[in-house]
Amino acid sequence: MSDALTRFDEGLQLILAELERGAFQAATTEQELREANARFVGAQGSLTQLMKLMRELPGDARRPKGQAANEVRARIEQAFQGRLASLEAEALARDLAAPFDVTLPGRGVTPGRLHPITRVKHELLEIFESLGFEVVDGPEIDLHENCFDRLGFPPDHPATDMQDTFFVTHRDRGDDVTTLLRTHTSTMQIREMSRRPPPLAVVSAGAVYRRDDDATHSPMFHQIEGFLVDERVTMADLKGVLQRFLERLYGGEVEVRLRPSYFPFVEPGAEIDARRPGGSWMEIGGCGMIHPVVFEHVGYDPSQVSGFAFGMGIDRMAMVKFGVPNIKLLFENDVRFLGSF
Ligand code: DAH
Repeated sequence: MSDALTRFDEGLQLILAELERGAFQAATTEQELREANARFVGAQGSLTQLMKLMRELPGDARRPKGQAANEVRARIEQAFQGRLASLEAEALARDLAAPFDVTLPGRGVTPGRLHPITRVKHELLEIFESLGFEVVDGPEIDLHENCFDRLGFPPDHPATDMQDTFFVTHRDRGDDVTTLLRTHTSTMQIREMSRRPPPLAVVSAGAVYRRDDDATHSPMFHQIEGFLVDERVTMADLKGVLQRFLERLYGGEVEVRLRPSYFPFVEPGAEIDARRPGGSWMEIGGCGMIHPVVFEHVGYDPSQVSGFAFGMGIDRMAMVKFGVPNIKLLFENDVRFLGSF
């Protein structure tokens, strides 16, 4: 018998003997068990080392000895798995037997909460609701017509430029139909007025989209739109509603200033500025008296009705309210940030 063969056989016997002596039974933790297993089949394990002798065995012995070694390996694995299962069963039995205090407080689940913008949005809608406005919801994807044409934007107005918005045009029964992510909530004026006759007083809030992305702009932001149509509505009514709204929002005295400005769907049109006593003017939106052309486009008679409309940004109000320095923070959905309000 070759020397290598003798050493191989003896080695295998030693391994078996060690296994039978209860190498795994001695382990009392999974960690110890895995260490014991490694002493056989780890990189430096006895069986692993023994296999290196294979090369030195006479050719006709390799096959039977290889098989013998594999059987030993299988027994090691079986003994290892057996002990692992019994250790797990012991641990479970211990847990179940241990005294269990059902009165201990549970592990808390952190409740979710509304996004700061959603909270401000609800607050704004509630104030207008209390002033008699009806709250409606509308789609973020709308027809080009509702966003621009029927509001009186001329076809070449810069706001209608493809560069400024996200457009899709498709063919529907032979016609080109253009839909887009709405660039403002003024679409809601067209949608609601087309649906029903005056009088009406409506507010709607939601996301709007523009091709605007820099340090102070987000391509998606939020607006609230309001409009009221009746007989003999005046700009004094508009200013009164805005005044009441802002007083409720800021909880105190507020000065409102309407600064002449231009929007295609109102005449006259104005920017809304507000300031609190001692504070500085802050621009919060646009407003005006609804343009007769808008009434014509929704089937109202401009000689019979008049109305006002306003639109304001919600994100800036939320930033002021919660002291958020950068608009992008609002949309990163980092719960560490969102959870801090
Ligand atoms: N839609 C305008 C914008 O996005 C805001 C606006 C201005 C809304 C005047 C109005 C309005 O209802 O009367 O900039």
